[in-house]
Amino acid sequence: MTSRTPAPGAPTPSPTGPTGRPAARGGRIPTPAEVAARLRPRPAGQAGGAAGAGAASARTGDASAQTGDAGVCVERHLTGPQRSAAMAQDARRGLTASPKELAPTWFYDATGSLLFEKITELPEYYLTRTERSILERHAGDLVSELASVAQGIDTLVELGAGTSPKSRLLLGALADTGRLRRFVPFDVDADALGRAATAARAAHPGVTVHAVVGDFRQHIGLLPVPAAPAGALVAFLGGTIGNLRPAARAELLTALRSRFGPGSALLLGTDLVKDPARLLAAYDDSAGVTAAFNRNLLTVLNRELGADFDLRAFAHVAVWDEANRWVEMRLRSLRQQTVRLAGIDLTVDFAEGEELRTEISAKFDQETVDKELANTGWRLARWWTDPAGDFALSLAIPG
Ligand SMILES: C[S@@+](CC[C@H](N)C(=O)[O-])C[C@H]1O[C@@H](n2cnc3c(N)ncnc32)[C@H](O)[C@@H]1O
Repeated sequence: MTSRTPAPGAPTPSPTGPTGRPAARGGRIPTPAEVAARLRPRPAGQAGGAAGAGAASARTGDASAQTGDAGVCVERHLTGPQRSAAMAQDARRGLTASPKELAPTWFYDATGSLLFEKITELPEYYLTRTERSILERHAGDLVSELASVAQGIDTLVELGAGTSPKSRLLLGALADTGRLRRFVPFDVDADALGRAATAARAAHPGVTVHAVVGDFRQHIGLLPVPAAPAGALVAFLGGTIGNLRPAARAELLTALRSRFGPGSALLLGTDLVKDPARLLAAYDDSAGVTAAFNRNLLTVLNRELGADFDLRAFAHVAVWDEANRWVEMRLRSLRQQTVRLAGIDLTVDFAEGEELRTEISAKFDQETVDKELANTGWRLARWWTDPAGDFALSLAIPG
């Protein structure tokens, strides 16, 4: 069956607040892979490893678990066919909706994860370094707070771990307690997870790494849990929770609460509301790395769903939505065009100027975080920010 979406006559209206600017800056637009290649090489020894090799095979294998070196286990809830089916479902739903949208989950193939790592080093992208500085400053407070609210944390779970640059700090702080037994990095990108697993194992040979390839929108109930009375610290860093709409955030927090009971705790990183100009710069950097990251979503669909998106025909756009208090990333069609996704037998028309939403990034304040936690069975125990109040880390316990 071929389903063709009607081409809207007018471009998607922009939300209120400062408008985004198309990020095409004249000249030929480099492909995401070209931008990623320019940003290589990564330091020797970071890629691959036993877990990396095992994780990479997740794309095609059907096995749900595979063990690499002793002490590193990779469990897969998104094998190649499952990943393709989930992406196909998201793409069909989003590209036939009005306005059109794609889930940010699919940004993260190997190129997307590499581009994201580079974004975290950009001067405009304050989020990662600010969150890291809060972790550095308050790691000791976190451990002593955990001792008073949750006895016996023996597992660190990290959702959307990526290559886990910040879990190094958490692993170090928890390992110092002498009780840490297991690290569970969880991500949709098997390659990034492989690197996280390898690095964690090398730094903490006494800690078992149980990596999980999955989608946090559906696989929270399958995460390993510590045997009572021990508990887990579940970290969800980077502001990634802001990529979910309020209802999806509530669903995720509720699922976490029912999976991790008394004795466990949640460490949540949230970006805070601030001057929209700074927010927009963070999602539309002058070097064009975020633009390449955004367009990489189309490369992923071209490769995995047999689509024929012409990346040069879409401009990167970032806008601040004042009403919803989130930044949106979009891809604006530069001409009227028809895109075919042969792998899912779908044809999609784009009007000139029509925008495809690829990510929302919600911004918070303490009151909102407190309320969202309380509504999902959690109690905010501690709230740490950097001195400028740009980013927050919340420690929550079952309410
Ligand atoms: C914004 S990055 C943050 C990475 C890292 N936690 C940090 O703080 O730098 C989002 C991460 O979440 C992962 N991710 C996105 N959607 C996901 C999903 N639905 N399920 C699991 N992981 C997901 C991505 O692969 C990526 O590693």
